[in-house]
Amino acid sequence: MLHRLKLGVLLQWLIFLLLSPAYKASSLGLTVHVVPLEVNGGKTVRAHFSVITPSPCPDLLAVCAAGEDCQAHRTIRPFNYTKPSPAWCVRQWQKTVPSNYNTYLKLGFQTEFYVSINADPKIRANNGKLNRPPFVALPPPLRASVNCPADFHISTKDLDGDKVRCRFARADTGECRDCFPHNFLKLDEASCTLTFTGNAAAGQYFIYLMAEDLIPSPPSRQLLNNSPLSSVPVHLSLTVEESASGCSYNPLVLDGTPERDSVQFVLPFQEVKFNAIYKSDLQSVLEIAVVGPPDLYRVGFATISNLAKLTMAWIRSENNLTQLLPVCFVANTNSFQSHLRCTWLYQREMRTLPDGTEVRCNQTEMSLLLPVTSLTNVDLDELQLNSPTCPVTHNSTHLTAHIPLGGCGTKAVHSGTELVYTNTLKSVHHTMISRRPSLILPLACRIPGAQVKLSQYSVSMPTERETFGEFTIWIDFYLPGQGPLARLTSTPRFRSNFLSSSRFRRETGSESRTSISSTQTTPQPNEIVKQLDLHVMSNCSIDRAEMIVTDCVESETEDFTVSHPILEKGCMTSNNILEIITEQKTFKIYRLNIKTLAVSGTKMYIECKINLCIATMPSDTCPDLCSNSSSSSSSSTVVHSLFSSTYSVRSGPVSLLVADYLNKNTTTTNLPPSNAPPTTGLNPSQPQPATTPGSTPPASQIPSVTSTNTNTTASQAPEVATSRITGVILMTIAMCLQMTILQ
Ligand SMILES: *[C@@H]1O[C@H](CO)[C@@H](O)[C@H](O)[C@H]1NC(C)=O
Ligand SMILES: *[C@@H]1O[C@H](CO)[C@@H](O)[C@H](O)[C@H]1NC(C)=O
Ligand SMILES: *[C@@H]1O[C@H](CO)[C@@H](O)[C@H](O)[C@H]1NC(C)=O
Ligand SMILES: *[C@@H]1O[C@H](CO)[C@@H](O)[C@H](O)[C@H]1NC(C)=O
Ligand SMILES: *[C@@H]1O[C@H](CO)[C@@H](O)[C@H](O)[C@H]1NC(C)=O
Ligand SMILES: *[C@@H]1O[C@H](CO)[C@@H](O)[C@H](O)[C@H]1NC(C)=O
Ligand SMILES: *[C@@H]1O[C@H](CO)[C@@H](O)[C@H](O)[C@H]1NC(C)=O
Repeated sequence: MLHRLKLGVLLQWLIFLLLSPAYKASSLGLTVHVVPLEVNGGKTVRAHFSVITPSPCPDLLAVCAAGEDCQAHRTIRPFNYTKPSPAWCVRQWQKTVPSNYNTYLKLGFQTEFYVSINADPKIRANNGKLNRPPFVALPPPLRASVNCPADFHISTKDLDGDKVRCRFARADTGECRDCFPHNFLKLDEASCTLTFTGNAAAGQYFIYLMAEDLIPSPPSRQLLNNSPLSSVPVHLSLTVEESASGCSYNPLVLDGTPERDSVQFVLPFQEVKFNAIYKSDLQSVLEIAVVGPPDLYRVGFATISNLAKLTMAWIRSENNLTQLLPVCFVANTNSFQSHLRCTWLYQREMRTLPDGTEVRCNQTEMSLLLPVTSLTNVDLDELQLNSPTCPVTHNSTHLTAHIPLGGCGTKAVHSGTELVYTNTLKSVHHTMISRRPSLILPLACRIPGAQVKLSQYSVSMPTERETFGEFTIWIDFYLPGQGPLARLTSTPRFRSNFLSSSRFRRETGSESRTSISSTQTTPQPNEIVKQLDLHVMSNCSIDRAEMIVTDCVESETEDFTVSHPILEKGCMTSNNILEIITEQKTFKIYRLNIKTLAVSGTKMYIECKINLCIATMPSDTCPDLCSNSSSSSSSSTVVHSLFSSTYSVRSGPVSLLVADYLNKNTTTTNLPPSNAPPTTGLNPSQPQPATTPGSTPPASQIPSVTSTNTNTTASQAPEVATSRITGVILMTIAMCLQMTILQ
């Protein structure tokens, strides 16, 4: 059986190689978003290509020939990721082509693919307009494991509200070349869901689909031949990998991530921002792979223990992109991939403003003058700016507002080389159900690039240093009741927060005052210590910073070739290890029962992995990694927390002889050597006995952690908008009489 399958794959590869000897690879994914052009009555269309190629990212020189009406999206932030290996990269461009278009396209040296678009112009009976072909969200390359069935839901939308159906492309009608059906794949055409049965040998497979839009018909008439209005190509790849560890360890998406197929409306110059959050117990998340519109920001990728988070943001500036923009993402671990999730950005259409509308900008404010006579039915008393307390005045003919750039909820965003201040005047209905139209009027003052400092051109998270300040992390060892924290360790209260039978369990309320063994008897110098306190210290001075110890291991050798966990994913690995409860959040003390550790000699080495965390909501705390991770609570704390990178701190040799501790004064002889922290100048250095637990760290220099635009808060507006002010006027208006409902 297996042999036969392998042979089948081999044959397919051979045929493939024979048929297209010149190129090594097909594309790893492709979608084309087709927008009919009115000028030709739809005989030509604007085709927006998104193609995934193997890395390195090929240049885009070949996609636009001289004289073609074509635009390549060269971006400094390509969507390039590593899984499945070898790595891959997304390339996007747009081009005017005939509505019926079949061609081979070539990208770089390696990738050639065949596309077939069938979008002959069709006038829609319901609105007399040209039919718009369906949109399909391009997923990152799909991954699955041998013998592990999986579903892949491909997200689709249609601007005309048509039903979208997917089907396998047909070679006989010229929709694909070198395309083979795979018997391990099933397609639910109506929901566009591919099911992988698991019965495939490891390898990379290419899947060719067509997406079609159909006028929705009532169920009674479904038997009638409902022919599609258009068909557009969808190419996917599925990489099947051998799995040693079974099937059900895919990372799970957590609350706080946009819902599957959700739509987010975006006004001009608005910034939309959302998170993707995953939990992966078996393997840590290597990357959250994203495919989205050019210039989608991806910032703040953080993994802490089994959680991973990425923030995405997009700013709508003047663009030639499609009205609907999909963003799809997955979390990849070494051998697993999460379910695919896609969300859509909808660039809301705007109407032209009534004649006589004026938006004026100067260094400190924007002012609006809006003739209201044409705005019939809009309740002017319901109109509000971002901040409802900002005054909006109107008389019978005009509405006026003076909006400070540094107040009224005005936001500053970067768009290309401009700094843009935005505010929105919109109807806020006082009753839940309102049949009155809503007015949405985005207002913007645009400050040209020359006047804005270059360093500010990005949506960025504050750097770690800005967030956490200069800090050092170190570890230290003392006998119970000794050392600078003796006050805490002599009469300790304990928390046991340990891992039982591979499941995380949190023993709340198991705090106790009883020490597990006597520290009263005077230890003899030549003995092995019974208990030792592991102090994990940090000197971060930010008020709300907490230290999270995710993992600690113990080894008898300096190279840690054989090691035993003490702490795993924030949980103690046995009830012979106890955490001493302290009021402080910047250090942790663990009491180790030496006899129960797997140490035979008189010394050991300890390595711990540590993150710092700040909960951005004052009421929140950083996640308790050992808690029984009910997805919603842990994901919300992850969303609302900022994390440092993960730091590893190793001890030097830690003596287990009582004698070494009796002679010890205040500092330890076991200085943790610096262990190449991943970023920034963090040098675990000399222990700092001066850091006394009672002293309050100086509250200071807290960067604005709630905002990712640290340095562009509106209050700084007047400084930035210097001299020569040329605030450009944005003139758009939306009368949202009815919300467009997208399927
Ligand atoms: C993606 O591309 C950028 C810029 O070309 C490069 O610096 C980065 O290393 C690449 N990342 C991966 C995962 O290949
Ligand atoms: C949009 O396309 C036009 C024509 O191809 C081009 O001149 C213009 O620069 C493009 N605009 C943007 C923002 O890319
Ligand atoms: C901006 O305009 C407002 C009113 O139009 C005026 O009061 C203010 O002084 C102006 N600011 C500057 C810096 O010119
Ligand atoms: C309404 O206000 C505008 C702007 O302040 C002013 O120009 C106009 O004359 C006013 N109209 C009436 C009828 O008061
Ligand atoms: C933490 O300790 C390091 C090294 O001693 C020092 O450079 C840094 O300033 C300290 N940070 C704070 C906030 O005290
Ligand atoms: C401990 O301190 C005492 C006096 O301060 C000193 O004499 C002794 O040598 C110190 N012991 C060690 C091990 O440093
Ligand atoms: C803003 O950035 C500049 C330079 O990047 C820096 O000197 C300044 O301290 C920053 N201001 C704030 C409030 O972070």
